[in-house]
Amino acid sequence: MRIDILTVFPEMLEGFFSCSMMARAQKAGLAEIHLHDIRDYTTDKHHKTDDYPFGGCAGLVMKIEPIDRLITDLKSQRDYDEVIYTSPDGERFSQKTANTLSLLENIIILCGHYKGIDYRIREHLITSEISIGDYVLTGGELAAAVMTDSIVRLIPGVLSDEQSALSDSFQDNLLAPPVYTRPAEYKGWKVPDVLLSGNQALIDDWEFQQSMERTRRLRPDLLQ
Ligand code: ADE
Repeated sequence: MRIDILTVFPEMLEGFFSCSMMARAQKAGLAEIHLHDIRDYTTDKHHKTDDYPFGGCAGLVMKIEPIDRLITDLKSQRDYDEVIYTSPDGERFSQKTANTLSLLENIIILCGHYKGIDYRIREHLITSEISIGDYVLTGGELAAAVMTDSIVRLIPGVLSDEQSALSDSFQDNLLAPPVYTRPAEYKGWKVPDVLLSGNQALIDDWEFQQSMERTRRLRPDLLQ
């Protein structure tokens, strides 16, 4: 899968995508993540990516031309399944959205900034708008990182069997059960006996009951 991220601050994301699982997925050839600086597609001498809004309201709006040039350039090289805009007024991102997007081949994620982007981009170039929650970030870069991380880790082969995404919280609408590691006892705080029993059927049953109990207590909305 290939993800092209369009931003005015690629350096905000470079570190994130060169570490840990995101780096592994790219090295293994399972995911290609390309960061594009929107500023590279400006043609004026000041490399302006934003301008004052018509109508006189406060703030700056991202300009249409560099974004259109960049998206047109990418689309001339391959077909894209989705062109996503990160925005607090988009559809709420969820594990279900991550699952759906992880099955696609090529997607573009456009990171918004300032007051937003010229609305014509949303009308003519964007195929879906996604929010990562009901709060406003200064830009869409963190949203793009959050979405890309949760999408890429679902690509088969990115996680090892032991880390399988199938046991994640939310994957089956249940929160994950508690996990423990050695030592089996620390300061008198004990790991539940069942996990040391070696009886896999009992362990599976205990984990399921724990998931149900935690979901009922912490996120009852998921059970509806
Ligand atoms: N840009 C600013 N706030 C955002 C949010 N909550 N989700 C996605 N993109 C954003």
